Amino acid sequence: MRLDKFVSHATGLPREISKRLIRKRQVQVNGTMVSNAAYQVAETDVVSMEGQDLHIAGPRYLMLHKPVGYVCANEDGDHPTVLDLIVDMDKEGLSIGGRLDIDTTGLVLLSDDGQWLHRVTSPKHLFSKVYRATLQEPLGQQTIDSFAAGMLLRGEDKPTAPAQCEALPDNGARVTLNEGRYHQVKRMFAACGNHVLSLHRESIGTITLDDTLAEGQTRALTETEIQSFLP
Ligand code: URA
Repeated sequence: MRLDKFVSHATGLPREISKRLIRKRQVQVNGTMVSNAAYQVAETDVVSMEGQDLHIAGPRYLMLHKPVGYVCANEDGDHPTVLDLIVDMDKEGLSIGGRLDIDTTGLVLLSDDGQWLHRVTSPKHLFSKVYRATLQEPLGQQTIDSFAAGMLLRGEDKPTAPAQCEALPDNGARVTLNEGRYHQVKRMFAACGNHVLSLHRESIGTITLDDTLAEGQTRALTETEIQSFLP
């Protein structure tokens, strides 16, 4: 691994800052100053900075409160991505679990542990996702029943899995899905003759979006939250 990447991973500092620190001769490898950011760190090398040995931390697990206007992609030519919201740490290697539409807000999980993310998103493991929607028309019992029974969406040949839908004040609805299809919540309400005006994801499995987290902010998951997706 390159020295700048090692320093970023070990300190959590963005890559550019790590490069600057290396250039400014703040980093030693085996007690000798190294100013080349591309230096390849060997397994036996001891990297230190300001007298402290640096160690690569384990994988990172984060929750993000996604605002409207950001896409859940690593790169996008037209819109900012949720990774652009992560400014105070090295974001290289982070992937997104459970994508949301550009106009949907709420809980997004990120990690550089690919196996963990796979469990979170794999249809095999069925971690339910809870959404809060604001609808154009009041929610009727027929729609609640259609969600519970499963429905055929346009262009698909398999009905949706049974989903819970409950009415909230002011044309609101809380929906619990046990699968993840493209634009699923919006398409299910559209199939029932309604329209989603706004959509927000509250939880995935047992992880609920922290209500102290403002839009655009992230926090590390707790050990209990991380473990909740493991067997
Ligand atoms: N369903 C949708 O329609 N959009 C989302 O972003 C998530 C679920």
